[in-house]
Amino acid sequence: MKQTSMTIRQEVPADYRAVESLVRDAFWNVYRPGCMEHFVLHCLRQDPAFVPDLALVLEQDGRLIGQFAAVRADAALDDGSVLPVLNVGPLCIAPEMQRQGLGRLLLDTALQKAAERGFGAAVLEGDPAFYGPSGFVPGKTVGIRYADDPEADYFLVKELRPGFLRGKHGIYRDPAGYFVCLTRPQEFADFEAQFPAK
Ligand SMILES: CC(C)(COP(=O)(O)OP(=O)(O)OC[C@H]1O[C@@H](n2cnc3c(N)ncnc32)[C@H](O)[C@@H]1OP(=O)(O)O)[C@@H](O)C(=O)NCCC(=O)NCCS
Repeated sequence: MKQTSMTIRQEVPADYRAVESLVRDAFWNVYRPGCMEHFVLHCLRQDPAFVPDLALVLEQDGRLIGQFAAVRADAALDDGSVLPVLNVGPLCIAPEMQRQGLGRLLLDTALQKAAERGFGAAVLEGDPAFYGPSGFVPGKTVGIRYADDPEADYFLVKELRPGFLRGKHGIYRDPAGYFVCLTRPQEFADFEAQFPAK
């Protein structure tokens, strides 16, 4: 059997365009016609909330096949305080490499690093079928509701530090950095035009 080597490491500037192409390929037509996530990631890297040391790539035999990124965010608690959390995304695996356990490997590795870095909880919008086995539960079941859709089953949270969410109640809004395609449409169009037509 052929031996393969799998590496998870922090992305470096030389990876940026390849990572954006990977994100574009993986998200294309999944949640909407085309996708925006490659531009979102491109812009997030300049966002003060971005966490560079949690911007990870997964390589197999030197080939880029997955990426993980995340930003600092806050939940607004009912008592008026803010709860710092880590907002996960985008995260993807190359289309032809999906459903082989690689997404789980990358996610769990990144969350472990996030916990070591001191983050108390991670949040995201995603499919519970994928994120549930990694410990994510609907935010509404632990008192943190998604502002745009308080009953959402797809707004998920995971404690990275045991007890971090205990007794906490509040709402969560997506960080502004995820809406760049709406706020900067011409820049998005110019950026998208740099990639091969699909
Ligand atoms: C979501 C994604 C990162 C998952 O990575 P992956 O390597 O395909 O997932 P894994 O093989 O690690 O999946 C582990 C388990 O999660 C569940 N799962 C993964 N993808 C799923 C999907 N699309 N639908 C339902 N369950 C899914 C399954 O239970 C799977 O185990 P199984 O294959 O034995 O049934 C990948 O499919 C992807 O890049 N998708 C496009 C971009 C995207 O949607 N990113 C996430 C945005 S929130």
